[in-house]
Amino acid sequence: MTLIRLDTLPRHLAVIMDGNGRWAHQKGLPRTAGHREGSESVRRTVRTCRKLGVETLTLFAFSEQNWERPVFEVRALMDLFREFLIKERAEVLRTGIRVRSLGRVQRLPIYVRALLEQLESETAHLGGMRLQLAMSYGGQEEIADAARRLAEKAKNGEIDPASIDEKSLGAELPSSEGGPVDLLIRTGGEYRISNFLLWGCAYAEFYFTRTLWPDFGEEELFRAINSYQKRNRRYGRVVTEEEHSEERKLAQSSATPAHV
Ligand code: FPP
Repeated sequence: MTLIRLDTLPRHLAVIMDGNGRWAHQKGLPRTAGHREGSESVRRTVRTCRKLGVETLTLFAFSEQNWERPVFEVRALMDLFREFLIKERAEVLRTGIRVRSLGRVQRLPIYVRALLEQLESETAHLGGMRLQLAMSYGGQEEIADAARRLAEKAKNGEIDPASIDEKSLGAELPSSEGGPVDLLIRTGGEYRISNFLLWGCAYAEFYFTRTLWPDFGEEELFRAINSYQKRNRRYGRVVTEEEHSEERKLAQSSATPAHV
């Protein structure tokens, strides 16, 4: 069993859920069966993160580029999103999860968008974990959309172009509301960021695993968090002797088994 500390959890955990298709292929099943099993991993992960006390969980459910997949696969994914939003609604409300969507959601079919928008408005006032579902999302697209909005404001004389800096551009990005990413997990054995949360990942720690998303369970989530908790986050700075001794103290005190 992997032990993790509950006082230094990543505040913002983001996941690239890759490997559904390969999971299905290995079992001689259609790719859509992999996505269905993947949605079970989504349920498990949301539950565990909420119980642990993660503040923001961002899941890459569908990228802007995923529209290029075969029509029947896109349709199957949309049906799964719909099912997820219907089935999880009661638990989301009961446990105080705030649901937010990221991405060009106007591209989603109305039967997904309507449920998503309903759940967003029903949960907007809740104080629990923030669950960001990135759907029809691209990191470059998000930055381009924000830049366009700032350009419009500058054109209308609402802001001075000279005032635009990383703070004001960052504040214009919907994904910034969940804070900078502390830990990015990617399953499925690839080592890339695939246009996900480009801005928020500026100082994120990465955890890559060959595990395919449908097989990703609690134990491996704990391994990822444990690995994160051993990292030395310097943000481009040099670590002071004081910080070194603080880290040593932390390492010596025993890790707490998480009971979730
Ligand atoms: C990547 O695997 C996964 C996706 C493109 C979709 C992610 C969707 C889910 C996990 C299903 C349900 C999600 C929610 C929020 C209910 P892949 O198909 O690219 O796998 P491969 O690389 O093995 O082909």
